[in-house]
Amino acid sequence: MANNNQSVHGIWRNRWIFILAATGSAVGLGNIWKFPYITGEHGGGAFVLMYLACIALVGIPVMVAEVAMGRRGRQSPINTMISLISEAKAGPAWKAIGWMGALAGFLILSFYSVIAGWALSYVLKLAAGTFVGADQALAGDQFSDMLGDPSGLMMWHTIFMVLTAGVIMRGVNKGIESAIQVLMPLLFVLLLVLIGYAAKNGNFAEAVHFMFDADFSKLSAESVLVALGHAFFTLSLGMGAIMAYGAYMPRQASIGTTVFAIAGLDTLVALLAGLAIFPIVFANGLEPSAGPGLLFVSLPLAFGNMAGGQFFGALFFILVTFAAWSSAISLIEPATAWAVERFKTSRVKATIGIAFIIWFLGIGTVFSFNDWSDYVFFAKTPDGIELFAVMSELKAMYPTAVDTLKGLTFFDLLDFITANIMLPLGGLLIALFVGFGMKYHHVYNEMQVKTPLFFNIWYVVLRFITPIAIGIVFIQGLLPECSFDSELLDADSGVCSNAPYLQPRLIGGVIIAIVYVGIIVKSLKKPARGLAE
Ligand code: PHE
Repeated sequence: MANNNQSVHGIWRNRWIFILAATGSAVGLGNIWKFPYITGEHGGGAFVLMYLACIALVGIPVMVAEVAMGRRGRQSPINTMISLISEAKAGPAWKAIGWMGALAGFLILSFYSVIAGWALSYVLKLAAGTFVGADQALAGDQFSDMLGDPSGLMMWHTIFMVLTAGVIMRGVNKGIESAIQVLMPLLFVLLLVLIGYAAKNGNFAEAVHFMFDADFSKLSAESVLVALGHAFFTLSLGMGAIMAYGAYMPRQASIGTTVFAIAGLDTLVALLAGLAIFPIVFANGLEPSAGPGLLFVSLPLAFGNMAGGQFFGALFFILVTFAAWSSAISLIEPATAWAVERFKTSRVKATIGIAFIIWFLGIGTVFSFNDWSDYVFFAKTPDGIELFAVMSELKAMYPTAVDTLKGLTFFDLLDFITANIMLPLGGLLIALFVGFGMKYHHVYNEMQVKTPLFFNIWYVVLRFITPIAIGIVFIQGLLPECSFDSELLDADSGVCSNAPYLQPRLIGGVIIAIVYVGIIVKSLKKPARGLAE
């Protein structure tokens, strides 16, 4: 079996580099941009608590499993799956983990790169002093002007994709390692500086109350699904990024402690970002539920009114760009490593082909914020759900129900499908594969167990708690919520407020139920597997 081999793509120099690279993958726009705004949209404390629970019960166990799989297979996730399947004599359907993961990486990077482009363009804006002395209106206008200009967005998206491809071309050791070592610590320090500012000038007490006082009445089943999806997104799980990096991990390093370090750092950065942003939001009367613009409106406002803000602001967005960069690299690595193996081609050629496809897909996200912002999927109307609709036409059709009309733009749709469906589904399959598909003694062996108690706890959680938790959240979050909670039903329009997701809900729920039952039934038929086997 390949587990004693070295990967053809290189190997990290030591365990510390693996921690850095995986943290570089985990810490990114998910922590600094997405976590604060979805926390704002989903009501604060209760959502944060659910997110932390998902990290502990689902994220960490799956991350351990993913690293172990990668290290055992030592190839791209797609080929790692093929060799692990043959080692375990498991069914070929498990290959879906590798393929779905590479696809999720494509889709995520296509919008991730556009948002990273926003951060790039903000470096210039802040450095130029655009926000010096800014008020709320100016900060808001700057953001909407940026969104309204597709050619500008395209340019930044293109620059970011070129940067990402540039690192990937140089290969794992030279490219990825050197970029991350300096930047991660710097980002951390700058976040602390920002919190210092927010504590002095913002409404810190209100922010802490919002983020840490749990009011469960604000939590819908869909919010729990978003919390779960975000746990996967922020830890880079469920799509093979961590598996690909695990393939370059030295054999003797302990997986358990390493994963705790990575997940701990990632969570810390997200909470720090929240504590930097929300005090400013509340002090300036901004809306916590403002959506994707939250970071890009609140922080420039703070920088614009603080001493040295022009410099620190530019520096901050440079660091956000770097954090996004080190994540983007890991989003594209699984597909690149696979293409190199599959087509026996050079890394440079593989990278160019793949980066081009992702760049092209990204155009959809660029237009989601301007020319196509009117086109929505799963539109919620008083007469039911429309798979595809034009928002302005709907508004004209239902003048009395304008506020209840909702839909997903192309960007929203990509975000929803990847983070809330594909990644948790990938994580579910990973938990089941390592828990039931792989042979016990192979898993035990790969984990280099020093404390059997810890191993056993992890193994039980991975086999039973993690899959059931994901299953419940999926079924609750993807089924029409009004069947559980009639208060969500709008008496006038007759629409359930979660109805836009009716179809993905049903499909996702049914898939999950079938897969889980199938796997359990299959594994019951196998003879018991002990260490002696
Ligand atoms: N974890 C990254 C972030 O939080 C995003 C990411 C998702 C990276 C999936 C790789 C894989 O920004």
